[in-house]
Amino acid sequence: MKNSLLESPFDRRNFLKKSAIAGTGFMIAPSGSLFGATSANNRLNIALIGAYGRAKAHYGTLHKENVVAICDVSRENLAFAAKEFPKAKIYEDWRKCLDHPGLDSVLCCTPDHHHAFISNWALNRDLHVYMEKPIAITVNEARIVRETYLKKKHKLATQVGMQRHAFNNFSRLREMIHDGAIGELKDVHVWGNRQIPKPGYLPAAGTPPDGLNYDLWLGPSPDHPYNPGYFTGRPGANCLQWNMYWDFGIGQMGDMGSHTMDLVWNVIDAKLPDSVKVASPEAFNPDVTPVNLTSTYMFPKNDWREKIRVTWYQGGAMPKSPSKWLDLNKIGHGAMFKGDKGFVIADFSSRMLYPSGKDIDLTYFKPRTKDEITPPLGNFQEQWTRACKNGQPTETACNFEYSANMIETMCLGLAAFRAGVPLDYDGGRGQFSNNAAANQYLTKPYRKGWTFDG
Ligand SMILES: NC(=O)c1ccc[n+]([C@@H]2O[C@H](COP(=O)([O-])OP(=O)(O)OC[C@H]3O[C@@H](n4cnc5c(N)ncnc54)[C@H](O)[C@@H]3O)[C@@H](O)[C@H]2O)c1
Repeated sequence: MKNSLLESPFDRRNFLKKSAIAGTGFMIAPSGSLFGATSANNRLNIALIGAYGRAKAHYGTLHKENVVAICDVSRENLAFAAKEFPKAKIYEDWRKCLDHPGLDSVLCCTPDHHHAFISNWALNRDLHVYMEKPIAITVNEARIVRETYLKKKHKLATQVGMQRHAFNNFSRLREMIHDGAIGELKDVHVWGNRQIPKPGYLPAAGTPPDGLNYDLWLGPSPDHPYNPGYFTGRPGANCLQWNMYWDFGIGQMGDMGSHTMDLVWNVIDAKLPDSVKVASPEAFNPDVTPVNLTSTYMFPKNDWREKIRVTWYQGGAMPKSPSKWLDLNKIGHGAMFKGDKGFVIADFSSRMLYPSGKDIDLTYFKPRTKDEITPPLGNFQEQWTRACKNGQPTETACNFEYSANMIETMCLGLAAFRAGVPLDYDGGRGQFSNNAAANQYLTKPYRKGWTFDG
């Protein structure tokens, strides 16, 4: 029997063709339809949750819609956002904000430990959702959100904030590998070199400033004492003050890893791996996610490729270069695809083809003509606002099925790191099949009173 969690009727190539057509104009849904924007001028009624910091990057898109509610746990940050959206009603608690009357959709830029909760609550209320990355910080969270989304995907548009996906290089990479530039795909390596080592949660220091609701900042997370150090980053990069702690994030996997693994995910058409193993020079730290980690996933074959191995390297771990001429360390965040006829090496905006083998002549590879290449995706945020309105809600590049599968895979690496042994994974059941004790690492503790099913 087909498992609903793993269904993927979303044909990405088809989507890419169709989205170019959608980009030429809106298909306005009949009034009262779930797809249309509910305001008279075909603008979405949006709640912005987590209203400052990363949210600033979305203000341009939001100004084209109706921001009717803004929510933040910091009064100072709320005041900043209220200047941008003076007509919006102000909330401190996202659980109340999601019940704002007349909402169509939510755009969320809170810290990561709220993402799966807010996503699920919003989907439960039939709201379209744009969620900053990562969509989840455990395997279990990813599965909960995906399951809710799959039940509603024909009426709700979702997008996770992996906006580099709109770079044309993503499509060119996919085309090269699918069209055989490196022969049969065998092996994929993907890495990020950011390192933010921390010894443990910050010690108690002072009291939260007037105007910061620290209890709501913690939200579903287990209690940790206040320390101003969690709030000292520049706007849009404050996530680097908290995202390495297990209760607030997943370190580099959720940080740059969300973008870099997307380079690979967009090519390989994978769902979930059937095994995972890790290597790290670090011992498990109950407070902080590992800096230096290598996690290796085996994915079953699909309709265009054999089974493949994908290896993620972070914090200084790196794959071996295929040539002494190529220094992969010069690429901070990159991917390398290995086929039986050579390699493609890429970062977010560029790529190089390195044919290898003594009889390799490239006669087997015909680059596409201009007419055959995938059209540009356009503005990534507006791909979502368009999908909220045009009756084609699944036509976003990084919807909650695509993105939850990707982050579930990454989180399996962290579970294997904690278990300390190679693990076989049954993606249908969401359980390790060779080690029952390791299943405890698929989830994490939460504070009493916080539920996914609100
Ligand atoms: N897509 C990208 O390239 C990109 C870049 C930077 C950050 N991000 C993501 O954006 C998110 C926010 O990052 P940031 O650096 O702006 O973080 P931040 O710590 O500055 O928080 C962002 C905003 O959320 C508010 N907030 C915190 N807890 C809240 C809650 N419970 N309810 C409502 N508001 C709350 C904060 O007061 C702040 O205004 C993270 O998930 C991060 O991964 C994505």
